[in-house]
Amino acid sequence: MDWKKTYKNRLLTADAAVQKIKSGNRISISHAVGEPSYLVEAMVANRESYRDVEIVHMVSMGEAEYAHPGMEQYFRHNALFVGAKTRKTVQDGHGDFTPCYFSQIPNIWGRTLPLDVALIHVSPPDKHGYCSLGVSVDYSKHAAEQAKIVIAQVNTHMPRTLGDCFVHVSEIDYIVEYDQPLLTLNPPKISDVEKAIGENCASLVKDGDCLQLGIGAIPDAVLLFLKGKKDLGIHTEMFSDGVIELVEAGVINNSKKNFNKGKMVATFLMGTQKLYDFVDNNPMISMHPSTYTNDPYIAGQNDNLVSINSCVQVDLLGQVCSETVGMTQISAVGGQVDFVRAAGISKGGRSIIAMPSTAKGGTISKIVSVLDEGAAVTTSRYDVEYLVTEHGIANLKNRTVRDRARMLIQIAHPDFRADLIKQFEKRFNAKF
Ligand code: COA
Repeated sequence: MDWKKTYKNRLLTADAAVQKIKSGNRISISHAVGEPSYLVEAMVANRESYRDVEIVHMVSMGEAEYAHPGMEQYFRHNALFVGAKTRKTVQDGHGDFTPCYFSQIPNIWGRTLPLDVALIHVSPPDKHGYCSLGVSVDYSKHAAEQAKIVIAQVNTHMPRTLGDCFVHVSEIDYIVEYDQPLLTLNPPKISDVEKAIGENCASLVKDGDCLQLGIGAIPDAVLLFLKGKKDLGIHTEMFSDGVIELVEAGVINNSKKNFNKGKMVATFLMGTQKLYDFVDNNPMISMHPSTYTNDPYIAGQNDNLVSINSCVQVDLLGQVCSETVGMTQISAVGGQVDFVRAAGISKGGRSIIAMPSTAKGGTISKIVSVLDEGAAVTTSRYDVEYLVTEHGIANLKNRTVRDRARMLIQIAHPDFRADLIKQFEKRFNAKF
């Protein structure tokens, strides 16, 4: 097949490409900084031609204009993760939220949410006609396989990552060439409380461990305290700029991994241009759909897998809420439960949920007797293992409910311990 001819024949302007979208279609957009911004802008500009186009998406790092007030007749947002840009749409009832483990999201397209159109973002084709999905493989690869129509933004700024992350030109129906820098995520500012949490988490990491780190200040704080470790590996959902320094220092070398030895395995990436340059054509990086990275039985094949994620609230039974504040959906499960379970399966594995002991400027405790009314349990008490705050570490696995409650109170903020002890004695009919 002459893929170069196919490529040429399928070239369109963005305006012409988004006219292939029809009213009532269901569309997926590549995730996070993998968003094909040029196509999304063209789709929003073409909105008068559409009614009731369903946009299914995880995190939008762009402006998510399709979810803004006034767009309801053109677009309906169906969120698989509630991020900052689409939170208000879901809260106001103009958007929906569909709970789904990240490991299972790619399979949604072929089952409950069949796709009419996939908007993807890729690197230019290599000499064999393969384009890399770069920083967003996650559900994008399955979307490109399942959708009736695939529209791709081909961008020279998209890093050519390696792994199971390629789409052939013949699989793309319409090609829009447009170069623009990728969306970025700057490293977070790390507070003293987060540093203390990072140090506590790092004390649970041993030389030779394989790590999964979530996103944000706490995972970045953990990385700060790993500089003295040796031979760490990575099998994760995503990583950011924070790992580069540890790779350059030889701390992360993936040499002790028993599964995908020598490779850093991930499904999506988010960071600055420094990260995008680091992963470009880098054989150390192996990108895969989230059906692979996040499947607990696959990730759990890594011995000594340590997962580190964060949460909103935990009750005295060890039930972890990571996605709602009371009735309000502010986030989603993402890969948290996938990796808690993977670490549970892994020989020598450990799962850590780490959080500051208080929220709202120290006015409320994140360790509570009962979860807020309407809160969702994300990681259940059957799955939870380590809970870490700036005040210490509690290992809840296989401990009685009274013991785990006692341990949790010991790592709560001192200002709230007396009240929690009172609640404990009432609830469990026992002395603290
Ligand atoms: N009660 C009331 N509000 C609370 C609260 C509590 N116990 N805990 C947090 N909040 C509020 C914060 O004040 C903040 O509100 P604001 O945006 O109005 O300031 C908001 O909830 C988010 O809290 P914050 O501490 O800023 O969040 P974070 O950036 O550290 O993220 C999670 C924490 C739990 C939302 C995030 O880790 C997450 O989404 N986890 C689930 C998915 C996951 O684990 N993925 C892992 C693989 S990447």
